[in-house]
Amino acid sequence: MAVTVVVGSQWGDEGKGKVVDLLASQFDIVARYQGGANAGHTIKWGDREHVLHLLPSGVFAPGVHCLIGNGVVIDPKALVSEIQNVQELGYDLKGRLWVSRNAHCILPYHQALENIRSADRIGTTKRGIGPAYTDKVARTGIRIAELVDVDVFSKRVRTEVERKNLILRGSYGERGLDAEEIIAEYSDCARTLAEYVTDTAHFLHEALDHGKKILAEGAQGCLLDIDFGTYPYVTSSTPTAGGVCTGLGVPPTAITRTIGISKAYCTRVGHGPFPTELTDTTGAHLQNAGGEFGATTGRPRRCGWLDLVALRYSCRLNGFAELALTKLDVLSGLENVKVCVEYEQGGVTDSRFINDARLLDTVSPQYEVMQGWEEDIRGYRDFDELPGAAKDLINRIQSFTGIPVTMISTGPKRSQTIRMGC
Ligand code: IMP
Repeated sequence: MAVTVVVGSQWGDEGKGKVVDLLASQFDIVARYQGGANAGHTIKWGDREHVLHLLPSGVFAPGVHCLIGNGVVIDPKALVSEIQNVQELGYDLKGRLWVSRNAHCILPYHQALENIRSADRIGTTKRGIGPAYTDKVARTGIRIAELVDVDVFSKRVRTEVERKNLILRGSYGERGLDAEEIIAEYSDCARTLAEYVTDTAHFLHEALDHGKKILAEGAQGCLLDIDFGTYPYVTSSTPTAGGVCTGLGVPPTAITRTIGISKAYCTRVGHGPFPTELTDTTGAHLQNAGGEFGATTGRPRRCGWLDLVALRYSCRLNGFAELALTKLDVLSGLENVKVCVEYEQGGVTDSRFINDARLLDTVSPQYEVMQGWEEDIRGYRDFDELPGAAKDLINRIQSFTGIPVTMISTGPKRSQTIRMGC
């Protein structure tokens, strides 16, 4: 069990935070490998609730080391504020939080560029994610190691702001952004972050040598993957399991287990194709009963039936050994539950996912209609207690994907979970 990976199998918001929080105490290290503060991982325990954006969802498991890998893009101010919030809750992060020297910074010009470029077209979270990854690939990004070196940071920011202002001037006033303001604004948080910064790949290699167990936590989901998602309506990183190796620096041979997280229905925030979307009262019911409003932006999430075609695609891409099914309780009270098993277009049906946004937008989902259940199953902890119709749904997911469901979430709290060997 060297590296276990938790990946969202849909368009994000599957409940990865809850699953990682539940599993964290079985691991020595929990590591985020991609994305940034566009993520919102909600953790509930007792009467408490906390939303994490950048910190790994292992922070509330005492003694577990938490690591932010090189594949993550970090808004330094957002990270400092999250560290402070978690410390105020009584969870000390000193000596157990590690931030990669090579992770890239998100700076004010990234958000500014996003505002004038892609935000509305894609429906992004407006956290500067795309422009920061653009800089990384263009080799003009500023990394965390540079942020914490005041002289280097000042020099780099002056050069970058000058370049970015060629585009921003006009939209952001006559002069564009002010480099000196950014330098002054970020020097405090650079000082706070300095003690957490390290060579995280080296840290993980030593941990692996010593037989430590690592949980790699994905953000967003497989269908938002830059290569395999519904491009261009995707995020700018690699949430699929492949991103673990490049985002943390661990070899593929170290990955021994991959867990896919899927809701019992589907949601999506932002634009892009969504074959099983429901714009009727059932969709509204799922949105209300499931509290489907973005943890980061507060935007209402689009809701629809479970798309087994997409889920099987995700299983194949990620090599899931098991599935955790979340929000099963939200389906309680529906007369019927539908699952999409094929796409139809022009009289032709196909049970393979279509990795082309324009084509996917034109397909018509073909459903199997299953019996629903009346009983409120919120908080159930035993598989045998579930109504027969809920068990049938789980069995259908397993038979269609070929992957066992080893965990079922029946509510947001840690205790509201059915565990079958996970
Ligand atoms: P970006 O990641 O902010 O660039 O946004 C790109 C797309 O990914 C948009 O449709 C966002 O709504 C979506 N997205 C990004 N992060 C999340 C997430 O954590 N959950 C769900 N959707 C997300």
